[in-house]
Amino acid sequence: MERTLCIIKPDGVEKGYIGAIISRIEKEGFKILGLKRARLTKEMAEHFYDIHRERPFFNDLVSYMTRGPVVLIALEHENAVSHWRTVIGATNPENADVGTIRKLYGNNIEENVVHGSDSAENGKLEIGVFFSEAELISQQ
Ligand code: RTP
Ligand code: MG
Repeated sequence: MERTLCIIKPDGVEKGYIGAIISRIEKEGFKILGLKRARLTKEMAEHFYDIHRERPFFNDLVSYMTRGPVVLIALEHENAVSHWRTVIGATNPENADVGTIRKLYGNNIEENVVHGSDSAENGKLEIGVFFSEAELISQQ
């Protein structure tokens, strides 16, 4: 079993898609290990997207991710990382497959509603940033 972190980004929360996204998570067969609402600080967002620090969109990305509450969801599934990335679709909603979360609800390449970890290792690390072991419940 693999783990991945879903973040419902501020635009997803603002536009009222929390319920639809959680419903999709359940339909896709993921186990929800942990779930919480949070407000990311500038430092948290900068650390989280550290690999993009040198990219031209970094400051806009940090402003976007900190402008309002997010929902953090720790997910488990076989091949959770690739399964979740298939469900959310391409980074740019314009290029995302029909029926994916970003195609359905995304605005543009920046405001794309959801995050998904990009490797099993990062899935574990990212979940560890936001959840203690005691907050991750694996029983159904
Ligand atoms: P994420 O990490 O949020 O799941 O997204 P991703 O893997 O599909 O895309 P990534 O390349 O990691 O980019 C992280 C987030 O930065 C914003 N972005 N803006 N203005 C731009 O050209 C641009 N490119 C990326 C998006 O919010 C993207 O999800
Ligand atoms: Mg990424």
